[in-house]
Amino acid sequence: MKVFFIGFMGCGKTTWSRKLANHLGYEFLDLDHILEAKAGMSIAEYFEQHGQDAFRLLESQVLKETDYPENAIISTGGGLPCFFDNLDWMNAHGQTLYIQLTPKTLAERLDKGKTTRPLIAGKHGDELVAFIAEKLAEREGFYKRATHIVNGIDMSVEMLADVIS
Ligand code: S3P
Repeated sequence: MKVFFIGFMGCGKTTWSRKLANHLGYEFLDLDHILEAKAGMSIAEYFEQHGQDAFRLLESQVLKETDYPENAIISTGGGLPCFFDNLDWMNAHGQTLYIQLTPKTLAERLDKGKTTRPLIAGKHGDELVAFIAEKLAEREGFYKRATHIVNGIDMSVEMLADVIS
């Protein structure tokens, strides 16, 4: 079984996919980390040196070329389902699970000191909330085509295991 966790930056994809993988005894994979290893640099550096379009191509390539174990829970970058045919590809190769949260909650979680995420670097407070609201409005049409949608508040690993079974 393969489950791809999708959703906006800060929704908890990495935390919860790792917890669920541990709970089920499945492998945990983080596509952002795989991309950084392949690129030999951080995502922030990659954005700076090559730009966002090149990043989107590379993340799609990493999604499709990674050698997935039989049973895996996979954390994905927040933009990944919204480019090319990445969402259809994930739905065809496994299940997708969208962790849904409001812009306000996402902003509260993301507005903590300096971020390594290039899209929100330097944005704080109301400006951050407004940016997230706008981006989420663009992206939710993709996120909502996930196999499963869960509310990011009050999550538990048991609930997640139940949802994907
Ligand atoms: C991005 C989200 C990031 C990372 C990159 C772009 C986005 O991943 O892929 O900074 O476009 O939302 P996380 O959602 O894991 O922070």
